[in-house]
Amino acid sequence: MKSYKLGVIGNPIEHSLSPKIHSIFARQENIQIDYQAYKVDEHDLELFIKDFFKNGGDGLNITVPHKINCLNAADEYSASAKAIGAANTLSSDKSTNKIFAHTTDGAGFVADVINKDIPILNANILILGAGGAAQSIIPMIHEKNPASIVLDNRTQEKIQTVLDRFSLLKSDDPSTGVQLTDLKNFSKHRSLTDNINLVINATSAGFDGPFSWNKDIFTTKDTIFYDLSYNKRDTSTPFLSWASQHSEQCHNGIGMLINQAALSFELWTGIKPDTNIAENEIFNE
Ligand code: ATR
Repeated sequence: MKSYKLGVIGNPIEHSLSPKIHSIFARQENIQIDYQAYKVDEHDLELFIKDFFKNGGDGLNITVPHKINCLNAADEYSASAKAIGAANTLSSDKSTNKIFAHTTDGAGFVADVINKDIPILNANILILGAGGAAQSIIPMIHEKNPASIVLDNRTQEKIQTVLDRFSLLKSDDPSTGVQLTDLKNFSKHRSLTDNINLVINATSAGFDGPFSWNKDIFTTKDTIFYDLSYNKRDTSTPFLSWASQHSEQCHNGIGMLINQAALSFELWTGIKPDTNIAENEIFNE
C-alpha cells in the first residue's frame, strides 16, 4: 500500500493543527500517510522544499510566514495562486519533477460558508483587514457573485493596493457586476436599506486583548460574523465576543481550516475526505 510523504512548513509550527486533521482524514479514508510538521527558517525555505520533493515528498502545506516566498521554489502555479501571489499547498509531478503551487484557503472558506448556509449571492460582504488572509479569500468570494465586497483596514493606504490588485476579477455570471470597494465608498453610495450582510475578520487584531472596530460597519441583527481565526480552547474569539453584541450568528475559522485541508488532501491523494469532523476530535486527541 502506498504511503504518502506529506508535511506542513512554517515558523513557528508547534501549534499547527494540520498533522492532526490530515491523520484523521487518512484514518477515515484508509490511506497511509507520514505527515510531519517542519519548522523552517526563511533562508532555508527554497532548499528545504526542493529537497523534500527530491527525496520522495508528495505534498506540503505552507503556513505563516512562508505563503508568499514558497512560490520561489515552484515551477508552476494554479490560477488562484497566481492571482493572490501566495500558496498554501505544494505538490509535485513525479514524472517531470516539477513543483506545483496551489492555494486552497479561498476555496476552503467558500466550502465552509456553503456548508453553513451563509448566503453570498447578492450579499454585501465586508472584509476587515488587507493582509494575506484577506487577499486569499477575495477571488473565491468574487466568483460567487456577491453584490459587493467591501474592504476596510486599520491602515487605509493598504486598501487601495488590494483594490488595484483585484480590479480585473471576472465573475462566473457576466450579467452581475460585483462591486469591489472600500467602506468609505460603500457608505457614501449606499441606500438606507443597503446593509452589510456578512462581516469577515481577516485581521490579527484581538490576538492580545479585546477586539474592537471604531467605525460604523452598517450591520443589522441579521448580519452574520465570521472570524478566519480560531481559538483552540474556546469556540469564541475576541472578534466573535465583540460580534456577539451585534448578532447571534457568529462562526469561527475551524470550518475553513478543515475544508482547506481537505482540498489539499484531495490534491495529493485524489480522494475527497469527509469534512464532517467533530471539533473536539481535532483538539482532544
Ligand atoms: P495575514 O497574512 O494573517 O493577513 P498580515 O498580512 O500581517 O497577516 O495582515 C494582518 C492584518 O491585520 C492587517 O490588515 C493589519 O492591519 P494593518 O494593515 O493596519 O497593519 C491587521 N491588524 C493587525 N493588528 C491590528 C489591530 N490591532 N487593529 C486593527 N487591525 C490590525
